[in-house]
This record gives sequence, C-alpha cells and structure tokens, in this order.
Amino acid sequence: MNKIKLGPRNSLYPSLTTLVGTVVDGRPNFITIAHVGIMTMKLISFGIGKSHYSNQGIRENGCFSVNIPSEELVVKTDYCGLVSGRKEDKSALFDIFSGELEGAPMISECPINMECRLERTIETPTHDVFVGEVMETYVNENLIEADKVDISQLKPLLFDMSSRKYWSLGPEIAKCWSVGNELKGTEE
Ligand SMILES: Cc1cc2nc3c(=O)[nH]c(=O)nc-3n(C[C@H](O)[C@H](O)[C@H](O)COP(=O)(O)O)c2cc1C
Repeated sequence: MNKIKLGPRNSLYPSLTTLVGTVVDGRPNFITIAHVGIMTMKLISFGIGKSHYSNQGIRENGCFSVNIPSEELVVKTDYCGLVSGRKEDKSALFDIFSGELEGAPMISECPINMECRLERTIETPTHDVFVGEVMETYVNENLIEADKVDISQLKPLLFDMSSRKYWSLGPEIAKCWSVGNELKGTEE
C-alpha cells in the first residue's frame, strides 16, 4: 500500500466528546472538549485554547467536572462548543447537580460524571493543558452491569476532526489482554 504524507497532523481520532463544567464569574459554564487524554487511571488531561472563557473558572476554583454526553445530547453538546459563556449563559441548558467539590457543576442528563481536582496546568503558547485528578465518579445505575460500566448503554459521541462529525460506537470486537493469547507460542 502506498503511503501519502499529510505533514505533522494529529490523527488521534476518533476521540471521546466530553462536556467540562466549571463556575466562571459565579455561574456554571460548560465547554465541549474532545481533546481528552488518559494519563493514568486517576489522572486525565485536556487542552483548552487560551481565549476560551472556561479556563478562568478552572484556574480560580482549582477543580472542574468532566461529563460524558450520550447520543441524545448531541445538539446541546455541539451548542456548548459553538457558543462561549462569555457571550451566552449556558447554565440553564442542563439540570445541574453538585458533589463534594464546589466549582465543579455536573450535568444530570449525562450518564457519567467525574469531579476532578486540578492537579497541574501545563502552559503551551496557544493552550492551557489542564491535568485533573478524578476524585469521584457518578454513573447512571442502568449503565452498571456486575459493578462495571456497560459502554454499549452509554452511547458516547465520538469526535472526528477530519470529517468534523460525531460518530457512534460500533460493536465489540474481542476481549483485551486475551485475544492476543492466540499467538503465544506460535513463534518459530
Ligand atoms: C466537538 C467539539 C470539540 C471541541 N473540543 C475542544 C477542545 O478539545 N479544546 C478546545 O479548546 N476547544 C474545543 N472546542 C471548542 C470550544 O468548545 C468552544 O470554543 C466553546 O464555545 C468555548 O466555550 P467557553 O468560552 O464558554 O469556555 C470544541 C468544540 C466542539 C464543537
């Protein structure tokens, strides 16, 4: 197969679409974030452009929430990524609940919510990269199967930069840390 060079283009897509909740100027605000990274089982990170309104709230409160919307919330999720809290009040879009951390409003309609403590901020010329420690996780009970989250019920919105579209999760393929065992002992 011939390879075509695209230049240094980040191609880590699809990624998970999330709604990050903060309190800015005393008001809950939600920003759509699809550039989310798993650093360790407890630490997560995401980059927010420096011009966005949410950054100020995360810095001031030292915390934030990460909410995972399902397919039904696609319109509101996209809206939060089109409109800045600096111009429009996004606080009434959702039913909001609080956990332990003041300044990390969570969205009831999202099946999974994580409240996070700001662990550190990494500055790049264009973005603030926020690293958060997950302090508590809330999950809709219908998603829990034998003490585990059943992602087929979650229906996450997968984000792709190339097509600029949201995609659905497909069916399961195989078991991790398991299917590869087929090749064990086959080397010559
Ligand atoms: C699907 C989607 C994903 C986005 N992901 C990011 C992201 O990872 N980082 C970022 O800085 N902006 C991202 N944005 C843009 C912000 O969500 C958008 O500029 C938002 O209006 C900023 O809100 P705020 O000013 O209230 O903080 C995304 C937008 C969409 C629609």
